[in-house]
Amino acid sequence: MNILVLGSGGREHTFAYKIAQSELCDQLFVAPGNAGTDAIATNVAVAVTDFPAIKSLVLKEEITMVVVGPEDPLVQGISDFFAQDDALKDVVVIGPSKEGAQLEGSKEYAKQFLIRHDIPTAAYQSFTQANVEEGKKFLETLNAPYVLKADGLAAGKGVLILQDIEEAKKELENMLTNKKFGVASEKVVIEEFLDGIELSVFVLTDGKNYVTLPTAKDYKRIGEGDTGLNTGGMGAISPVPFADLALMDKIESNIVKPTVNGLAKENIDYKGFIFIGLIKVGDDPKVIEYNVRMGDPETEAVLPRVKTDLVKLFRHVGNQSLNTVDLEIDERSAATVMTVSGGYPEAYEKGKGISGIQEISDSIVFHAGTKIDNGHVVTNGGRVIAITSLDKDFRQALKKSYQNIEKLHFDKMYYRKDLGFDL
Ligand code: AMP
Ligand code: GLY
Repeated sequence: MNILVLGSGGREHTFAYKIAQSELCDQLFVAPGNAGTDAIATNVAVAVTDFPAIKSLVLKEEITMVVVGPEDPLVQGISDFFAQDDALKDVVVIGPSKEGAQLEGSKEYAKQFLIRHDIPTAAYQSFTQANVEEGKKFLETLNAPYVLKADGLAAGKGVLILQDIEEAKKELENMLTNKKFGVASEKVVIEEFLDGIELSVFVLTDGKNYVTLPTAKDYKRIGEGDTGLNTGGMGAISPVPFADLALMDKIESNIVKPTVNGLAKENIDYKGFIFIGLIKVGDDPKVIEYNVRMGDPETEAVLPRVKTDLVKLFRHVGNQSLNTVDLEIDERSAATVMTVSGGYPEAYEKGKGISGIQEISDSIVFHAGTKIDNGHVVTNGGRVIAITSLDKDFRQALKKSYQNIEKLHFDKMYYRKDLGFDL
């Protein structure tokens, strides 16, 4: 079959890398893709939210499976667009309906879903400009630190964690009255702070059945020791060493099962990934967020460990028969280190020549922000290239990634050298 992957980051290069290995895949397209996907698939210059252009591409190339990488097209309803079009309705779309995508598109929607299904999460209340003063009073009932979340999508920047009550009140005002995050912060969720260690769990569901993919932990801050600004992610480790069987059992029965059952019970059409962000408080996992897609760079660490044919898994998602597959996982650990452009996550330059990729042999090179310019691979984003290695434990895997990263060069290249420091 012919398959289309939507997106242009390291996550999408990883999807393409796995799909290209499948005997079930004839032709592979990526829109818009990057220099990495260009080497293993056909890149097409179509934006991920340009549904009419995607439709033309799918019909022209006889594509029968579409794998949606990022959240934007899902929140805008790409799955419904396919389901409601006579010419597209038989195409398998890996990604939930617009309703299901609200689990990521609205923090308040996610909170209500969690509470309806009795899934452990932080206590919360939500506020709009109309009751901003009540919001400030609510803050006074909590202890520091204060967690403020813009309700809508804010490119990963919509969460503020503040130590000082006066600052928290000021930021609440900024979000609600001055629209700090635009329409995304017209509503704000104020949440109880959860003190513990974070991990993420990835689930692939057909709406009835599911498989749980390997866990991962990402490193969001730009600076070593988890300091400085938040980024899209500076690296990831899979599995998370502290996620033992006892914890995974709790996650499965208290969180994953009720989530999938809740979607089914509410007749929410959901065929795709659920990325569950968790904080382990004491021995108890609690949900801090849902994402309706895979993580980036978590995908670069998780998918290389999945031995089962990815296209086969997606086909089972399409015909709701995920209960009939046995998921095979590589027992080794994966460590992904992300190289970024100097200055990221603030202003940075693009178009820098990248060298050394060919010299890397015992790690996998996943392109994120790259493109081909006059036959040369150049930087084209903040996060540039991710290096993933597999080895018997995460420390060995990290060592391999760090050795190989030394071979890579571009002007003002930066990466964190301390991943795993907290484990
Ligand atoms: P989110 O976008 O919801 O994942 O939030 C971004 C980051 O804020 C998370 O990765 C956590 O580190 C932190 N965070 C979010 N919610 C909470 C919470 N209730 N308690 C503590 N930290 C949180
Ligand atoms: N790495 C975090 C995310 O993809 O949302």
